[in-house]
Amino acid sequence: MDRAIVVDRLVKNFEVTEKEKGLRGSIKSIFSPKKKVVHALRGISFTIQPGELVGFIGPNGAGKTTTLKTLSGLLYPSSGFVQVLEYDPWEKKPEFLKQISLVMGQKNQLWWDLPAIETFELNREIYEIPRRDYEKNLEELVTLLDVGKLLKTQVRRLSLGQRMRMELVAALLHGPKVLFLDEPTIGLDLIGQQKIRDFIYEYNYKKNATIILTSHNMDDLTNLARRVIVIGAGRILFDGALEELTDRFAKEKIIKISLSKEIDIKEVEEIGTVKYVSFPEVTLSVPRSTVAVAAAEILQNFPVNDLTIEEVPVEEIIKKVFRGELNK
Ligand SMILES: Nc1ncnc2c1ncn2[C@@H]1O[C@H](COP(=O)(O)OP(=O)(O)OP(=O)(O)O)[C@@H](O)[C@H]1O
Ligand SMILES: [Mg+2]
Repeated sequence: MDRAIVVDRLVKNFEVTEKEKGLRGSIKSIFSPKKKVVHALRGISFTIQPGELVGFIGPNGAGKTTTLKTLSGLLYPSSGFVQVLEYDPWEKKPEFLKQISLVMGQKNQLWWDLPAIETFELNREIYEIPRRDYEKNLEELVTLLDVGKLLKTQVRRLSLGQRMRMELVAALLHGPKVLFLDEPTIGLDLIGQQKIRDFIYEYNYKKNATIILTSHNMDDLTNLARRVIVIGAGRILFDGALEELTDRFAKEKIIKISLSKEIDIKEVEEIGTVKYVSFPEVTLSVPRSTVAVAAAEILQNFPVNDLTIEEVPVEEIIKKVFRGELNK
């Protein structure tokens, strides 16, 4: 199998009933409901190879969770083709469900009033994990996520970070080959985020697991995903290497100069947008298309010791993605 996940022209519409304000509106919507269609996915396509770790990013409401839910069989597509490990997800065949897992940072599957180990035992039964595999996987996950001392603590007494790590143990006991992670580091402090990130990296590397990760956290993306898929308003805007995002979307380049003498900064402002000045350093951004001309002009007209041309940092581009600025 050369493709773990295939998505072709996937469309997902939700039909929602719009309610007008107030009691009158409530009554009216019972008798003559006003229907509205939300186009969550407007025909998205991509394929993912076994063992790939892909970042799936976009602003709020872009369609990320809808995609992951469809891939795990929780939602039925309105149209289009979806296959995960050669299965149709919504058939929810036990052989399929045993090979995937969906983890949502904002939802928990652990029993709140019981120690996590009880949920793990329950999952062993649900997924029919042979005792020996279960023990082995549990031992491995508990060590990797460093939660050995907490297994018998009531889940409600765990910190958010500890609980998230327990959620991961629960989701991975059955050794899924495909993992859908929906904002796994949401709400965690820096150390908590790092622990989850290290774990995702290890799990992908050691098990050759296929992973789709959605996150609004720049560090998750720049540290983990080499390939990113950018989605906006239900459409795919970009699919490729993280570094190519800059190539594709950065309309500007950065020129950094080191001056040998102080100058009137107003004169440089005519060449580009000054981002930073602290003698002898000046940083300005200029349109990509005119960067060569701008650099030549600077060298000709100012006392320059050194000049470098750089790309806009990928973090800046990702920030724009989350602000929904790449849709146009
Ligand atoms: N069950 C539902 N019924 C109606 N509309 C829905 C439903 N689920 C999602 N939507 C709508 O579909 C669109 C995509 O939502 P989705 O949750 O996939 O976005 P997202 O990219 O995960 O956003 P976020 O970053 O906020 O998690 C939104 O407009 C949302 O309101
Ligand atoms: Mg979401």
